[in-house]
This record gives sequence, C-alpha cells and structure tokens, in this order.
Amino acid sequence: MTDPAITANGLRKSYGDKTVLDGVDLAVQEGTIFALLGPNGAGKTTTVQILTTLISPGPASGPIRVGGHDLAIHPQSVRAAIGVTGQFSAVDGLITGEENMLLMADLHHLSKREGRRVTAELLARFDLVDAARKPASTYSGGMKRRLDIAMTLVGDPRIIFLDEPTTGLDPRSRHNMWRIIRELVADGVTVFLTTQYLEEADELADRIAVLNDGRIAAEGTAEELKRLVPGGHVRLRFTDPAAYRSAATALTDAARGDESLALQIPSDGSQRELRSVLDRLDTAGVEADELTVHTPDLDDVFFALTSTTADIPHQPEETVR
Ligand SMILES: Nc1ncnc2c1ncn2[C@@H]1O[C@H](COP(=O)(O)OP(=O)(O)OP(=O)(O)O)[C@@H](O)[C@H]1O
Ligand SMILES: [Mg+2]
Repeated sequence: MTDPAITANGLRKSYGDKTVLDGVDLAVQEGTIFALLGPNGAGKTTTVQILTTLISPGPASGPIRVGGHDLAIHPQSVRAAIGVTGQFSAVDGLITGEENMLLMADLHHLSKREGRRVTAELLARFDLVDAARKPASTYSGGMKRRLDIAMTLVGDPRIIFLDEPTTGLDPRSRHNMWRIIRELVADGVTVFLTTQYLEEADELADRIAVLNDGRIAAEGTAEELKRLVPGGHVRLRFTDPAAYRSAATALTDAARGDESLALQIPSDGSQRELRSVLDRLDTAGVEADELTVHTPDLDDVFFALTSTTADIPHQPEETVR
C-alpha cells in the first residue's frame, strides 16, 4: 500500500472564539477522488485552505502530510506538488485566457517555449481555443471555470484541490467537468474536491466525508454512507394473491400493500439482510415475481447527518445590542 497523498489528524481551526474545525481526520489515497461534503459554512473551504498552505492550521492541530511532505516543516514542497482551484475564480478578467495561462506558466518558471506548448495543449483540452484571445471577463461562468482548472494544471500537479468546481454550471458543463476530473484521475492525479452536490460526490468520489459542526460526521464510499441512514428497504411484488399472503405471513416485519400485492421490508441493503429475507421466503415456499432493493440516496444522508445551523453567522460580542 502506498503512502496516502493527503493525511490530516486532528485538524483544528478557530476564528476568534468560533471553532470552525474541531478535530478533523482525513486520509486520501493516491490516484483517488475524495469529496468533502457539507452545508454552507461547514468549513470546507477552510479545510482546503489549510491543506494547500494558504492559511495556517490552529495551534492544537495534529500533523498534516500532503504529497509525502510534512506541511508544517516543508510548505514549499507541498506547494510544488499541488494545484488549487479556489471556490472563487483566480482568473484575471482584464487579460485574455491565453495570457492568464502564460502568466501561470511564468509563475511555474516554465521556459517561454514550454509555457506556450503547455498553454496551447491545455486550451485545446479545455475547449478554449476559440476564446483564447478574448478578455476573460467576456467568458461565461462555465468557460471561466474551465480556464481556472486549466490554469491549475499548468504546473502538472500530482494532487489537485477543487473547491466547488461545478457550482453554477449548467448540467452539460457539469458533466464535462466530471469527465475532465475523471481523466485527471485516470492519469494518476489525486483529486480532493468539495461540493454541495450530492449527485456529484456520488458520481465521482471514491470516498466521501461529510463535514458538520467542525467534525467528520461520516466517511466512506457513497454506498456505505447510504447504508447509514434509514429509508432503505427491499420491495417484493407478487402476481398471485395466495403467494402474497403466504409471504406476508412469513415476513412479519413487512409493510403490506394489499392492493398492489407488494411487501416492503426495512433493510440496509446488505447481503446478510437480503439473504435473511430470501431464506424466510424459501422456508415459506413462495417466490416473489419481482424483488428490488432501495437504498437511500445521498440527499437522505446529507439531511440526516448535517444540522441546519452551520450557516448562521457568528455574532461578535461587540455588535450584540
Ligand atoms: N477569515 C475568516 N474570519 C472569520 N471567520 C471566517 C473566516 N473564514 C471563514 N470563516 C468562518 O468559518 C466558517 C467556515 O467557512 P468556510 O468558508 O470554510 O465554509 P464552507 O464549508 O466552505 O462554506 P460554503 O459552502 O458556503 O463555501 C464560516 O462560519 C465562516 O464564516
Ligand atoms: Mg466554501
């Protein structure tokens, strides 16, 4: 097993007397997509800013390693290994998309020739060739977001942080962005992303962590998280009323749908629980005509795990009347 690309233990951060992160543990394996989910104000951007050396962690924080480097001791090495696309665009609207890219190439100390090569390649990859010579202020939100990520890739980082990469994008642009992110990971890049879209985490992420009240409320694959919340069930449908009645007698915990000849049994969707349902049907000598497993979706998980208070701004004492 390789060293994880990102690890943090007991990550803490406070602003004044407001605790934003209260002991967050994270581990992201190399070449995977990790999604940090959480309501507005949960501390997603704060986490990204700490992991990318933009702000310092709280004094009581545990060790952080990014790209094999201890962030407290070798922040420069961390910076050299990563790319960051912030929640708010880093694109300079006054200059063209191409000029934005060349500026990044300069910042990464690429030669003029190499800078032009990388810029041309990335502009093509992100479908920005036609717009390359126009001021970035004239770009649509989706184009700006693509340029933002293209700029992040100029230094060929092995680990990239994307803070809400698809917020505000239309469905087609969002799917394009997902494709780009998947291509990056196929090349071995590690992606740490934050998102408000549960569908996005479900689509992309190998592992998902839900941040709430300064802590990780749950962490796992999308499937694991869905099993944490109630709402999952197995549904059996019958065409023969006699078979339906025998099954209902055998499965005492089932909710009955006498009209539709359907039974609904609460279940976490695990193999063990499914087998128990099938065993009881077997024992009763009935066979269902249709069996479906319903797992809750990530929206259910999000609502179950996150409170609604995270976004209430903190009132400094002085302004309380
Ligand atoms: N520089 C700062 N000074 C004081 N408070 C801050 C500062 N930056 C962030 N906060 C507070 O920290 C909390 C977490 O903010 P953060 O931006 O990390 O949330 P987020 O999860 O990224 O939210 P969103 O989904 O809205 O982007 C918020 O309550 C915010 O008001
Ligand atoms: Mg944010």
